Amino acid sequence: MSGAVDSPAVAIVTGAGRGIGRAVAARFARHGYRTLLTDIDARELEVAARALADEGLDIATHAEELSDPAAPKRIVDAARNRWGQIDALVNNAAFHGSRQSVLNTPMAEWEQVFRVNVFAAAALSRQAAMVMARQGGGAIVNIGSVQFDLPALSYAAYVSSKGAVVAMTRALAAELGNLNIRVNGVAPGVIASEAYRDSLERLAGSDAPPLASLLGRAGTPEEVANAVLFLAGKDASFITGAMLAVDGGRAHSRRHDPFQAEFEHDLSQEDQDG
Ligand SMILES: NC(=O)c1ccc[n+]([C@@H]2O[C@H](COP(=O)([O-])OP(=O)(O)OC[C@H]3O[C@@H](n4cnc5c(N)ncnc54)[C@H](O)[C@@H]3O)[C@@H](O)[C@H]2O)c1
Repeated sequence: MSGAVDSPAVAIVTGAGRGIGRAVAARFARHGYRTLLTDIDARELEVAARALADEGLDIATHAEELSDPAAPKRIVDAARNRWGQIDALVNNAAFHGSRQSVLNTPMAEWEQVFRVNVFAAAALSRQAAMVMARQGGGAIVNIGSVQFDLPALSYAAYVSSKGAVVAMTRALAAELGNLNIRVNGVAPGVIASEAYRDSLERLAGSDAPPLASLLGRAGTPEEVANAVLFLAGKDASFITGAMLAVDGGRAHSRRHDPFQAEFEHDLSQEDQDG
């Protein structure tokens, strides 16, 4: 398999109970990584893990609330104690907040968003990097969002936290490169995970401008997982500090084009240059 790990490597994936994190954990496990799945939702975590264990894959679970400052060390210890090494960390879990005007969002919610989306990722990265440095290297992949640059309304805390994830990705890449630890990020566009399925269904029935992508559809969690696996693996050995958009071109297009609905391809006009 191209890019397969030499010895069974070890990965930690946060927010692995559902959605993108679950798809990432499955992609890593099927690729040969021994994979620790962690999530706040112990029930979802067990469902996700059972499906992979049934395939004979070497996985483990560890439920944690990431806003607990002691959680990151416990998660890293769980993987290291079980398998003795950590090769990849995927900071995927996120708290979206209550989706209302910034004027109505209490600061306690901002704090919780930053605790989960930024501080837990930073603490996990520190803990995992200690292990990676001693073993000669590793890779960290942070899940950002296209929204860090294209903010949706009613998401101010979340969008701000994703901006911090981008800056943190670059800052850690700069500091950890000489330890052979690569730090990259993936910035998904609209992905049809559980978190967005309801919104996508609502949009499909409305005449709202098509927001999904240049490809005219939302992405899948598996399409994000493919990019995360690439960035964590040997095929990305000279890539660090990068944010890879997995958004069907949405960021590039600056999304809502009000004239998009009137834009049509005329397939009868062949060979204009001939
Ligand atoms: N789905 C999209 O369209 C989209 C777009 C851009 C970015 N993203 C990013 O991708 C990642 C995954 O998104 P998703 O759509 O799968 O979201 P999701 O809400 O379906 O999954 C997030 C997971 O994180 C877990 N989690 C949340 N708070 C936690 C906490 N305090 N402690 C431990 N676990 C916690 C949840 O239980 C859940 O399993 C997130 O970082 C999100 O910001 C998603």
